[in-house]
Amino acid sequence: MEIIQLQNLTKVYKNRVAVDHLSFSINEGEVLGLLGFNGAGKTTTIKMLTGLAKPTSGDALIFGKSITKHTNEIKQYLNVAPQETAIAGNLTVYENLVFIANIYGFTKEEAHNKAVEMLEKFRLTERKDDKAKKLSGGLKRRLSIAMALI
Ligand SMILES: Nc1ncnc2c1ncn2[C@@H]1O[C@H](COP(=O)(O)OP(=O)(O)OP(=O)(O)O)[C@@H](O)[C@H]1O
Ligand SMILES: [Mg+2]
Repeated sequence: MEIIQLQNLTKVYKNRVAVDHLSFSINEGEVLGLLGFNGAGKTTTIKMLTGLAKPTSGDALIFGKSITKHTNEIKQYLNVAPQETAIAGNLTVYENLVFIANIYGFTKEEAHNKAVEMLEKFRLTERKDDKAKKLSGGLKRRLSIAMALI
């Protein structure tokens, strides 16, 4: 099943074409790496898929929903683990996970269960009560990805 479908996705900033009629699909369970030169349009592509930039033309479907027509609806299917990790340093590892689960609308009990599940999956259980700012770089990345997957 195709989960993400880009259809001639295009972004033009003034006279610069950042993304030029990009079309490809990603199937369920696939992991895709997007490689390209600096300025090739990778970040702009991700920005369009996550609703942070409006396509100039073309479209993309995420779980069959258009990013141009159902921008808000598709946000429940998406998260990003950015390069500058978006974790709250003064919250504990566990609290960061519960926090993001709450944002995505889980009940208190579901949020707790999700957090515990992610702590185990990402081998962070032992560090669950540490403030996130005290984690090493790699452990922070793991927390950031765990938060994105929730
Ligand atoms: N907000 C903006 N306004 C104008 N031009 C922009 C804007 N954002 C990106 N661009 C331009 O669009 C092109 C694609 O940029 P983008 O950031 O998508 O590249 P990238 O593939 O992520 O590059 P890098 O590998 O350096 O991160 C570049 O020429 C960039 O200068
Ligand atoms: Mg980039």
